[in-house]
Amino acid sequence: MKTLILFSTRDGQTREIASFLASELGELGVSTDVVNLNRAEKIDWPAYERVVIGASIRYGHFNPALDNFVKQHQQHLNALPGAFFSVNLVARKPEKRSPQTNNYTRKFLLRSPWQPDECAVFAGALRYPRYRWYDRFMIRLIMKMTGGETDTRKEVVYTDWQQVSAFARKIAQLNSKAPV
Ligand SMILES: Cc1cc2nc3c(=O)[nH]c(=O)nc-3n(C[C@H](O)[C@H](O)[C@H](O)COP(=O)(O)O)c2cc1C
Repeated sequence: MKTLILFSTRDGQTREIASFLASELGELGVSTDVVNLNRAEKIDWPAYERVVIGASIRYGHFNPALDNFVKQHQQHLNALPGAFFSVNLVARKPEKRSPQTNNYTRKFLLRSPWQPDECAVFAGALRYPRYRWYDRFMIRLIMKMTGGETDTRKEVVYTDWQQVSAFARKIAQLNSKAPV
């Protein structure tokens, strides 16, 4: 049995975190499949003993594919031990890096018909040179207002990889759910 890791990304950071999680879980003897949520059409649910979903924030929202996926697969999701992680730049501030203090994550958990057993918030990456001019302009404005990096030549990865490792250890400990 494997652990399914689904990710929703725009610029690749959530995919990187999902891959890192998979390699950390591998070290712990847990085998994984890492799948892009937007391309997950047919899932062989009986093959999995756990599920993890990770998604990033853009302009205040997760990709709508996240809500659609959760709605469509809620029965399978709720039947398995599960974990959710969100990725955003507000979380570069440690006090905004918990499911309770990170508004995007808190709101997702409140409205979601899927209730994961574990949840984490990871700081993402700021990669000015890769953005289109409008996005670069907007992100710079937000960074300026919130006291962040404003040098548009820079690429900064704020992800705390030790925090991701700790999350992998929690996931590895999730055991199968008793039938209700
Ligand atoms: C156009 C754009 C809009 C963003 N909007 C937000 C936002 O509203 N709040 C936030 O905390 N982070 C925001 N971010 C930061 C992203 O969440 C961060 O870069 C993350 O690493 C993206 O993950 P991804 O590469 O997996 O898509 C934004 C980034 C971009 C490029």
